This record gives sequence, structure tokens and C-alpha cells, in this order.
Amino acid sequence: AQVMNVGLLGFGTVGTGVLEIIEQHQDKLSHQIGAEVRVKKILVNDLEKDRGNLVKPEQLTKNASEVLEDDEIDVIVEVMGGIEEARNYMKQALLNGKHVITANKDVMALYGSELLQIANEKNCDLFYEASVAGGIPILRTIVEGLASDRITKMMGIVNGTTNYILTQMTKEGRLFDDVLKEAQALGYAEADPTADVEGLDAARKIAILGTLGFSMRLDLDDVSVKGITDVTSQDLKYGDQLGYTMKLVGIANRTGDKVEVSVQPTLVPHEHPLASVDDEFNAVYVYGEAVGETMFYGPGAGKLPTATAVVSDLVEVLKNKRLGVSGNSAVIPQHEKKLKTDEE
Ligand code: NDP
Ligand code: HSE
Repeated sequence: AQVMNVGLLGFGTVGTGVLEIIEQHQDKLSHQIGAEVRVKKILVNDLEKDRGNLVKPEQLTKNASEVLEDDEIDVIVEVMGGIEEARNYMKQALLNGKHVITANKDVMALYGSELLQIANEKNCDLFYEASVAGGIPILRTIVEGLASDRITKMMGIVNGTTNYILTQMTKEGRLFDDVLKEAQALGYAEADPTADVEGLDAARKIAILGTLGFSMRLDLDDVSVKGITDVTSQDLKYGDQLGYTMKLVGIANRTGDKVEVSVQPTLVPHEHPLASVDDEFNAVYVYGEAVGETMFYGPGAGKLPTATAVVSDLVEVLKNKRLGVSGNSAVIPQHEKKLKTDEE
């Protein structure tokens, strides 16, 4: 059978999940793609780390060029995190004519348009479904499922770590620091959880959602951000007694041709659908002028849900490659950016 070789950059929470899904769902993948999918090389930091019997030692390397320059590797999956190094590796991979899949919202929110442009020029795919709302296929839904509509509002819980913390503090009366440690152990938090708790991770995701949903290039600086570090147990308790649940909510609003984008702790009435989104789950509300109200719900972080999104991107890339239609993943924004100012 024909073989499609994949190179992984990173083999942590998401990377191990990607390998697991490729191995366990090989039958389904091969059927869809018409080839066997094989993870040929994996870039890691620490070659001595115990990885059980998940991989053979010869699959692992600390040398990025062994993955990026391997002519047999068709697709690079970036799940190492970080910004500059990950951006450079993705750029290098695309310039080498390889398709790229990433779960990295940090890089996509900052350098997405640069990378997508290179992908287009090189006739390569660059997909990043896992970067927003983990296991919920929200980017494809916005770009393809609602392609015919005009989206005017998106609102959601898009960070699993903070939602886990707020849920556990509210429902179980637990302490912020203890729950954060648990979220890290469960693989939900970023390597440096500052981005989670200060709202930056959610801001990156809402910038990506806004860019795609409004077809307008939104940058991280366009998002007004407040995280949950100042939220106290008392705030949660009093809110709850008054009939409200505290959630970290990202909102992207379009009025006429102007947009405003924010992330902040928000008191949500108990009966509102977002109030019942608990723990690491995410939910994204999307309003389209024709479709009306839609809502998407699912696990927003964690090994297998995130890896599902990554491997589904892989299926898409390999289907495109087979059909010879790669390189169309860059959605060129249609509208000039116009932000709503505070005075308006
Ligand atoms: P982890 O910290 O669990 O894993 C990172 C992996 O990358 C490790 O294998 C590490 O090597 C390797 N790595 C990191 N830096 C380097 C480097 N400079 N050179 C070589 N190898 C490196 O991260 P996650 O799997 O949790 O996250 C990966 C990406 O996916 C991030 O961009 C994150 O934002 C995103 N993401 C994560 C989700 C989650 O639920 N965890 C959900 C959605 C997106 P070693 O094993 O040797 O330490
Ligand atoms: N740290 C992120 C979160 C991972 O907690 O939502 C998923 O993007």
C-alpha cells in the first residue's frame, strides 16, 4: 500500500494523542486517504524522557532539520507550542513544500497571515482546527458550514483551563492554585499557564474566530483582555447566590462594518446555555444573519479531543493532496478592519 509519512514537531499531551489516533484509527484513515499514514520522525526536547513503548528510539530526534528536510515526509504536524521557534519551523516546512497542521493559536494569532500566504504561494495546505476550542470543529464550521451567511456575532467559552478553574471554585469551593495545578496535570493548561489565566489564550482564539468569521484580519492587539486572576471565591459565591455563574467569555461583535472584540470574566445568568458549560468544556455561539442562532459545544482541551482535530486536518490535507487541490487553505480577508471605538 502507498504510505503517507508524517513528521511530528512535539510529542507531549497533543503529540502522543495524535500518534494514538493515527494508530488506533488506521483502518478508517487509510480508507479515506487511500494510503497508510505513518509517523516517521518526531522532534522532542529530551531524548532521555521515558515514553513507554509508544515510539521506537529511531523515530525521535532533537534535530529539527531531520524532520523538516526529510524528502519522504509529506506533512508536518506542529504540536510543540511556543512562538518563534514553532513559527520558523512551520515557515521552513512550507518553504520546503510540505503541508503543515498546527494546534498553535499563539503563532496563528500573531503570524497566521504570513504563514498562510507562504502556504498559498507554495501550493501547500496549512490547517489549524485544533487551535480554537480543541475538539469542536468550529473553524471549519465557520469557514465552510456557514460560508453562505454573514456572521455578526460570536461569543464563547474558549479556554478549558480557566473554565475548569472557575467551575471547580464555584461548584466544589476549591482554591484557585490547587485547581490550576490539577488542570496542568490533566494536560489542559499551556506550558506557561499565564496565557490561560490572564485571558491571552482566549484572546488569541477570539482573534482567530473574528478573522475567519468576519473575514477581516483581526490582531491580538485589537482584543480587549481581562483574565481571571482577580476573581475571588467571594465573587463567585455572591454571583451564584444572585443567580449568575462567572465565566471567562470571549465576544466578537460586528455592527454595520465595525467590530469589537473582547475577553473578560462575565456573570452569566444560570438559565443561559453558557452557564452550564462546565470544566474543560468549551462552547461557541455563532449568530448569522440568515441562519440565526447556532451553538457548538464540546471538550476544549485535553489529549484526545485536541488530537482528533489535528488528525481530521491531516485527513483533509491528504485528501487534498490526492485530489491535487492543495494550497487553498488561506482565506483572504474580504473586509478592511474597522474597530468600534469606546466613544461609539
Ligand atoms: P506539551 O508541553 O505537553 O508538549 C510539548 C512537546 O513539544 C514535548 O514533547 C516537548 O518535548 C516538545 N518541545 C517543546 N519545545 C520544543 C523545542 N524547542 N524543541 C523540540 N521539542 C520541543 O504541550 P501540549 O501537547 O499540551 O501542547 C502543544 C501545542 O498544542 C501548544 O501549541 C498548545 O497551545 C496546543 N494545544 C494544546 C491543547 C491541550 O489541551 N494541551 C489543546 C489545543 C491546543 P519533550 O517531550 O522532550 O519535553
Ligand atoms: N490551554 C488551552 C485551554 C488548551 O486550556 O483551553 C486548548 O487550547
